[in-house]
Amino acid sequence: MSQPGEPTVFERIGGEVGTRALVDRFYLEADLEAAYGALRALHPSTLDGSRDKLYWFLCGWLGGPQHYTDRFGHPMLRARHLPFAIGIRERDQWMACMQQAMRESGIDEALAEQLANAFYGTADWMRNRGI
Ligand code: HEM
Repeated sequence: MSQPGEPTVFERIGGEVGTRALVDRFYLEADLEAAYGALRALHPSTLDGSRDKLYWFLCGWLGGPQHYTDRFGHPMLRARHLPFAIGIRERDQWMACMQQAMRESGIDEALAEQLANAFYGTADWMRNRGI
C-alpha cells in the first residue's frame, strides 16, 4: 500500500500505539453496538484474546512488525475463520465496525477510505457461506 521511501500505512496510522487504539476501538464498538450483534456473537465472551490477535496481525498487515507470524506462523486467515459462519451480514458488520473505529480513532479520511478498500478484500474473502 506504500511506495519505497514513503511512510508505510503502519507509520501513517501511528505505529503500534495507533494500531492498538484502532483495534481497541473496533472491539469496543463490536461489544457495545447492537448493530454488530452477529459479529459479536461469533466471538468468545471475553475479547482480550481476539483483540491481541487482531492487533498483532494488523501490525504486520499494515507494514509494521510481524508480531502475529512471529507467534503463530502463517496467518492462514481463511482457514482460521472456517469454524465461524461468515456470510454477507457478518462481513458487512465487520466492515461497518472497522469503518466506525477508523473514524473514531481519527484516521485521516483519505487513508481510511484506502484502508476500507483493502479491508473489504480480506473481509469478503473470509465469507464461507452464501448469505
Ligand atoms: C468478515 C468478517 C469477519 C468475522 C465475522 C470475523 C470473526 C472472527 C472471529 C469470531 C475470530 C475468533 C476470535 C477468537 O478466537 O478470539 C476471528 C479471529 C481473527 N480474525 Fe476475524 N473476522 C472477520 C474478518 C476479519 C478480517 C477482515 C481480518 C483481517 C483484516 C480478520 C483477522 C482476524 C485474526 C488475525 C484473527 C485471529 C486468528 C487466530 O489466530 O485464531 N478477521 N475473527
